[in-house]
Amino acid sequence: MIRVSKIAHATYEMPDVDKQIEYYTDILGLMLVERNKDAAYLASTVDHHSVVLKRGPHSQCVRVGFQIPQDADLGDFEKQVAADGVRTERKKDPDPSISEMVAFPDPKGTIMEVFKRGAFSHQKFQTKGIVPYKLGHVAFHVTDVKKVTKFYCDVLGFRESDWMADFFSFLRCGPDHHTINLMETGSNRHFHTAFELRDWAHMHEACDFLSLNGYRLLWGPGRHGIGHNLFAYHRAPNGLITETFCELDRMNEELGYFEPRPWHRDNPQRPKVWAKDPSASNLWGIMPGDEMMQ
Ligand SMILES: [Fe+2]
Repeated sequence: MIRVSKIAHATYEMPDVDKQIEYYTDILGLMLVERNKDAAYLASTVDHHSVVLKRGPHSQCVRVGFQIPQDADLGDFEKQVAADGVRTERKKDPDPSISEMVAFPDPKGTIMEVFKRGAFSHQKFQTKGIVPYKLGHVAFHVTDVKKVTKFYCDVLGFRESDWMADFFSFLRCGPDHHTINLMETGSNRHFHTAFELRDWAHMHEACDFLSLNGYRLLWGPGRHGIGHNLFAYHRAPNGLITETFCELDRMNEELGYFEPRPWHRDNPQRPKVWAKDPSASNLWGIMPGDEMMQ
């Protein structure tokens, strides 16, 4: 099968795009690469954009973009999706830097945008704000975690990295432990969007920077059990939760285990079902408050 191999972008709707751009540029440290009447495109890397902001009735994540390998055929990928009974739409030049795309909804209604990126963009990392390496993952609340997890694995080619009991799945589409994670809570909505930072020193800097700019942390810093990443969560002014993280587990696909780390309890650390235990959430012990679930 053709598997998506990278998360490329996430698209968010919000009522006040102009006002929100300031957070994504001055605070998060993405570069505003293009602004037109429909959308603001923000980037951190050689990709033209990794975050897209559009006007909409309320803040939500409406689309997630994924790249397939350069040697894969987009037409074959579309057939693969259609074979699962999913209705697809083929789009020509839908966004800057994307010449052709296959779009289709996942079971909870988020639009998947799958494409090959032909050319690299040449913007540099910004020098103001937090400045993450990249968009790392998008997490969603879902009403049926088994159904949505199966869709990501069967249709897009994701692999299961870990589960927390039977209600929280962590799925990878490359070496990173998770690119999509899905938590069954009784509603279908955005949970958080995570951006990768360099290291602990960068996390430290980011937490102080957020604090100096009036942002308080919702949870963290801590170290997740599942994925073992250092984490700190805050809420963006549009109401969406942002996670900054580093040291996420990385899979060696050929060997079937995550690169060994001193904080692992299993040696080697392989994909598994974790018990619903506080250590699966935070090895350092502090649990999230109610605000994390709002
Ligand atoms: Fe996360």
